[in-house]
Amino acid sequence: MRPKIYITRKLPDQIVTRLAEVCEVKMWEKEEEPVPREILEKEIVDIDGLYCLLTENIDKPLLDLGTKLKVVSNMAVGYNNIDVAAATEKGIMVTNTPGVLTETTADLTFALLMATARRVVEASDYLRAGDWKTWSPMQLTGKDIHGASLGIFGLGRIGEALAKRARGFDMKVYYHNRTRKPEAEAQLGIEFAEKDQLLRESDFVCVLMPFTPETKNYIGAEELSLMKKSAILINTARGGIVDEEALYHALKNGDIWAAGIDVFEEEPVRTDHPLLSLQNVVALPHIGSASQKTRLKMAALAAENLVQGLLGETPRHLVNR
Ligand code: NAP
Ligand code: GLV
Repeated sequence: MRPKIYITRKLPDQIVTRLAEVCEVKMWEKEEEPVPREILEKEIVDIDGLYCLLTENIDKPLLDLGTKLKVVSNMAVGYNNIDVAAATEKGIMVTNTPGVLTETTADLTFALLMATARRVVEASDYLRAGDWKTWSPMQLTGKDIHGASLGIFGLGRIGEALAKRARGFDMKVYYHNRTRKPEAEAQLGIEFAEKDQLLRESDFVCVLMPFTPETKNYIGAEELSLMKKSAILINTARGGIVDEEALYHALKNGDIWAAGIDVFEEEPVRTDHPLLSLQNVVALPHIGSASQKTRLKMAALAAENLVQGLLGETPRHLVNR
């Protein structure tokens, strides 16, 4: 008997073909529309493995329905969309896709930092709107990136890759984690800082930690008030780590200078979201890992994790070991 799996979004053909070598595959065939909850609730009843995206809420009530479920494979490194404790209690393996997206996400984080500092989106809109009448001395001036200080909350895989990029721009890099990383400090020439110190001293603050109960609203009104008025906040980790309402007020009142945001508390973000009304916000639709090569690698790794788990092996990236 081949294990039965359900895939929650249309995947590239080569990934489905690989999965079909081992499994009986059923897939939600739409690319731009998530699977409705009631369909997922029906499908989960009869499957051994679930291949899902970060858009699916794999909570306890859903897992309760999956009485035959052995593996939940998430095509993302972040797995805050899955109730891992409930899965573990049921003996269900949960897997993710770390590593393959590290460099691509660090690229996008740096791109967002640069776009925000140099007002790239605003300047492009200005030109397209026909507002460019002449060159003038202080027109559309932004902040320098080279020589500035960068504070990283969450110096993990992506955080370290970001610190490497910052070195090329002669930036002074601070980081804050729960555990210090002396090796990374020596290798990258970076400095550990307590949370408040990092907020006070950084020209750019980048958030790159996972979304957990501990990191919910990790950056709120108090933290924003400690930042320089000239500082820029970048969040490419998860919405919910930064308190969006507090961020809106800080940006509107000039308590910080600008923000670059790839992730929102509710995705897709509503177009009438207050943050989108601000010109000093560069907002992106959760595209941190979105290069063609990387998305294929993530899709393949999620497939490999799922197959390994279903064949009774330990998946390469098991979250609940
Ligand atoms: P990682 O290697 O696990 O790094 C996470 C870092 O955060 C670790 O160094 C960890 O260090 C730190 N951290 C965790 N909890 C913390 C806390 N309460 N306070 C301070 N630091 C804390 O993960 P990664 O691969 O770099 O990915 C990071 C996150 O980026 C993912 O979880 C995901 O949500 C997000 N992401 C987003 C995109 C996108 O498309 N925008 C793409 C990829 C990833 P300690 O444990 O020592 O504290
Ligand atoms: C994307 O956000 C990921 O966690 O992989």
